[in-house]
Amino acid sequence: SSSSFMGYRSPVICIMGHVDTGKTKLLDKIRRTNVQEGEAGGITQQIGATFFPDIALQEQTRKVDEDFDLEVPGVLIIDTPGHESFNNLRMRGSSLADLAILVIDIMHGLEPQTVESLELLKKRRCPFIIALNKIDILYQWNAKQYTSVQEALSRQQQSVRDEFQTRYNNVVLQLNERGLNCNLYWENDDYRSSVSIVPTSALTGEGVPDLLYMILKLTQDLMGDKLEVREKLECTVIEVKNIEGLGTTIDVVLLNGTLKEGDTIVLAGLGGPIVTTIRALLTPQPMKEMRVKNEYVHHAQISTSMGVKISAPGLDDAVAGTELLVVGPDDDLDELKEEVSEG
Ligand code: GTP
Ligand code: MG
Ligand code: NA
Repeated sequence: SSSSFMGYRSPVICIMGHVDTGKTKLLDKIRRTNVQEGEAGGITQQIGATFFPDIALQEQTRKVDEDFDLEVPGVLIIDTPGHESFNNLRMRGSSLADLAILVIDIMHGLEPQTVESLELLKKRRCPFIIALNKIDILYQWNAKQYTSVQEALSRQQQSVRDEFQTRYNNVVLQLNERGLNCNLYWENDDYRSSVSIVPTSALTGEGVPDLLYMILKLTQDLMGDKLEVREKLECTVIEVKNIEGLGTTIDVVLLNGTLKEGDTIVLAGLGGPIVTTIRALLTPQPMKEMRVKNEYVHHAQISTSMGVKISAPGLDDAVAGTELLVVGPDDDLDELKEEVSEG
């Protein structure tokens, strides 16, 4: 195209997998928050979104590769539920993703929603890595907070490393049986044909630097063009929520383009297209989960890639999972209404 290079946007990463494999806990460990402990029954029931700025990422990636060059402004990570009844939310979350993290519990191996997630990712041709989580449960694991996983493994006594190898081999075999090649990420010399496995612990943070490093390395190396900032709006509604003091709000993922306070927006509603005006554009603080009630930051305008809460009148019957459009000076409102209805 003729448009000039405007820099890179933050990649959008979707974290998915079977219930209780540690998806939210991993994000908590990166955020240094306790979202998971506040969940009813410890079960995630909504899509979440957290923005991680480059500085926070760099602090971790440096532990894996001192010279790693961060080219993106951050990453936006989408949390999804693993419970079997939330297939629609996994589909919604993964449809937004540039890359996914599939979390597998090293003690359990492949489970029903692991397989379901694998199928979903394959269907969408969404590249992914595997976090082989809960390594700290290996018998007599010797933990050291937030260290790189190679360092963590080499610190273990032989019996622990043997148990790791046995469990790792089992999971790899199960994945092979589903037609997937995979390797420990530091032994993987072909990211395109083999899936990288990152052993992690959400309890100790071991492997967390590696997980962030791999997300960034893969998105930067494999998707450069796809991550170039584009002016055209790409914005999807992920949740519709009532917030005390704000009324019904929508949480959106803004992938490309700009939203401004006062913009006229069009989106799908149960009773037909909704046309309304943005009253407030809110984000949580960096490293805070959007689905948890926060001190929101107000923005006059906001650009890619970000999780944004929109407050506007008339959102009561907004439909999640659909596109949001902004009415520009040259746009025909009826055409836009038709576009969101076809969604
Ligand atoms: P859903 O969102 O409900 O599908 O679950 P999840 O995948 O987000 O898992 P969650 O973060 O809720 O963790 C489930 C349980 O496993 C919690 O009790 C966590 O404390 C525990 N857990 C998660 N990761 C680890 C880990 O690496 N090590 C240990 N020992 N426990 C973990
Ligand atoms: Mg969860
Ligand atoms: Na859980």
